[in-house]
Amino acid sequence: MTLTFRKLHGLFAAEASPIDLRKVHDDATLAKIRAGMDEHAVLVFRDQPFTGAEQVDFAARLDGQLHTKTGLNAIQENRHGHAALTDISNVDADGNVNKADDRRRFYSLGNRLWHTDASFQDPAGRYSMLNAQVVPDVDADTEFADMRSAYDALPDEMKARLEGLKVHHSLAYSRGMMGFSFSQAEQQTLQGAIHPLVRTLAGSKRKSLYLASHASMIVDWHVPEGRLLLWELMEHATQREFVYRHSWRVDDLVIWDNRATMHRGRSYDDTLHRREMRRVTTLDLPRTAQA
Ligand code: OGA
Ligand code: MN
Repeated sequence: MTLTFRKLHGLFAAEASPIDLRKVHDDATLAKIRAGMDEHAVLVFRDQPFTGAEQVDFAARLDGQLHTKTGLNAIQENRHGHAALTDISNVDADGNVNKADDRRRFYSLGNRLWHTDASFQDPAGRYSMLNAQVVPDVDADTEFADMRSAYDALPDEMKARLEGLKVHHSLAYSRGMMGFSFSQAEQQTLQGAIHPLVRTLAGSKRKSLYLASHASMIVDWHVPEGRLLLWELMEHATQREFVYRHSWRVDDLVIWDNRATMHRGRSYDDTLHRREMRRVTTLDLPRTAQA
């Protein structure tokens, strides 16, 4: 079976031809998916009815080690009983849709800010793989922004200005912006991390802007000046021409490269409509022999 990718947007994002990823174990197909990720940064696979365990196994086959230090694990018991399975849903442990004043809901609403997964950790997230179990019949989409194209479109003076800059990323900062605060104990696992603002991606050799709502400061800069520059870059990178919007179907698996994209959930009435997804994110560590 040959795997092919059909572009969904002029700059990035593609949909894969029919394939059952649960059965993909061979190096050639896994390498083809990685190459597709290098080129398109977001890949949509339809009809992937993964169990949580199958999703975890596939993520490890594709990209190595898995992230377990997500913000959600810091604030609540993991509903899926596996630290690498992040519960991207609006449902509590008993399966009921979260009430409007639920703390977990306030935390989850932070996903509606433009971000990249686990940038507040080191290693940060590389691939995120989000699998949809329950999709409401109102729009509850996810948007992705292509940070390589956004970098390419910057004026040369700006590119020169950004060279060598480092950014501090903090979940307490981004959630704080929404009025959400962590307890002292929760913050223990959320110290924040420093990453380069511009990075050259190993696979595509393209440069990318590494930004997020978690980006709190430019290291060694006065805080207000750094924030203004970060906000200016966020505004630039999220212009419509750089954005792909994904409409979910049940059993979709969407894989995105957190080094090359930002994403955000779009608003819908999450106190009314059930939406259940599971995410696995890999660690952004150097690849071993196979890739
Ligand atoms: C995520 C995320 C957005 C959404 O799963 O990392 O940010 O639309 N999701 O659920
Ligand atoms: Mn996310």
